[in-house]
Amino acid sequence: MTYGTYLRKITDPANRADPYPLYAELRKTPVLRDEGGPYLVSTYWEIHGLLHDPRLSSDPRNLDPDAAAALAVTEEADDPTLPPSFLRLDPPEHDRLRRIATYPFGPPHTPRRIHDMRGELARIVTDLIDDFEGRDRVDLVDDFAYPFPVTVICRLLGVPRADEPLFHAWADTMLTSLDPAAAEADVAQRRRAVRQARVELGMYLSELIEDRRRAPAEDMLSSLIHGDGPDGRMSHAELVSTAVLLLIAGHETTVNLIANGMLTLLRHQDVLKRLHDDSRLAVPLVEEVLRYEPPVQLLPHRTPLTDIDIAGVTIPKGAAIWLVLASGNRDPKRFPDPDRFDPDRKDNQHLGFGSGIHICYGAPLARLEGQIALAELARRLENPRLLEDPPPYRHNAVLRGPRHLPVGFDGVRPAREP
Ligand code: HEM
Repeated sequence: MTYGTYLRKITDPANRADPYPLYAELRKTPVLRDEGGPYLVSTYWEIHGLLHDPRLSSDPRNLDPDAAAALAVTEEADDPTLPPSFLRLDPPEHDRLRRIATYPFGPPHTPRRIHDMRGELARIVTDLIDDFEGRDRVDLVDDFAYPFPVTVICRLLGVPRADEPLFHAWADTMLTSLDPAAAEADVAQRRRAVRQARVELGMYLSELIEDRRRAPAEDMLSSLIHGDGPDGRMSHAELVSTAVLLLIAGHETTVNLIANGMLTLLRHQDVLKRLHDDSRLAVPLVEEVLRYEPPVQLLPHRTPLTDIDIAGVTIPKGAAIWLVLASGNRDPKRFPDPDRFDPDRKDNQHLGFGSGIHICYGAPLARLEGQIALAELARRLENPRLLEDPPPYRHNAVLRGPRHLPVGFDGVRPAREP
């Protein structure tokens, strides 16, 4: 089978509901290439090894021109007004910016930031589920899985929730740059649209940063602007790039964790019942959702800084590499009985948050959001059931999840006492 066939199949909306048989086929050739296309890496240890290999770059400026031409993401690297975010930078710049961004977000400088948000997260979830009362069906994406993490990231950063319709449109456009179908669509037009959206979102956040510079508030933007650590402060342009990254990364991924999680639970009613009876199951359960139905299916933008030999293949410097995380998560050489959803699984070092120096910065927040959301849905919905299986999916094959998730139920149990 050629690479072109795989690309078409991976991006084909008909395969979105169940891409896993395709990945199983892909794993027969751990590192696979077709004429002119990227290298697809699909087995756990090869992906893991590459994610920890300093010869692999996340900076699209290191792609050779032919490989870069196929990726709308190079827009970010080319933009003269806004430098690339640390997601698309290598050490030492990546490490400096990530460290500065971590001061106000996590250990060692702010160890309680996420822990202290627990009550607030629970309140947002309670309010959203309270709104289900009097109804017998909801769209779990539009009515819950989307508004929850968006409200959270807005509060965390200090972005007005009322502006959400504005940045929702920009975020949607920017995320098309992560869609491998870009290789086959009108790349030039897409690049223009992505650039435009990025500039507009950047201008919006730049103004907000100026406001906070004048009048600091209790939010992360203010801490990033005013905080001083051993690495100093970010420049204004770096701040804007980081804010764009956090707003978008905190937006479209957790939605899919919650929607994929609830879909999986509704298909595994025995596990749903266990979660209803004991919310502590939410902790290993979220890890298993991240393995079994990862919101980020593949990382399409890596490139080697020098020729790399792996699994009997030499990947040349500058070639595009796609790491198929969702396939690595189902690799039987790493996970016994990988196609079984098993929240009791031991040793669940999945690739759902990536691995190595770019491992998800927001993982502690995303985990907590997922745990609270799924535990409360399981506890409060009476007899929940899927109304459409499979549900309609989003177009994007990289950030994969249902576009809508119609769920029926018989009633809503009362909220816990605060
Ligand atoms: C379930 C939800 C989430 C999933 C599945 C997820 C997944 C990922 C993955 C796979 C990466 C690695 C990218 C790479 O190696 O190129 C990543 C990086 C990142 N994530 Fe998340 N993410 C989630 C939620 C969040 C949230 C809520 C935030 C923000 C608060 C966030 C911020 C970031 C940032 C800033 C990076 C770049 C890290 C770096 O380059 O060092 N993510 N995420």
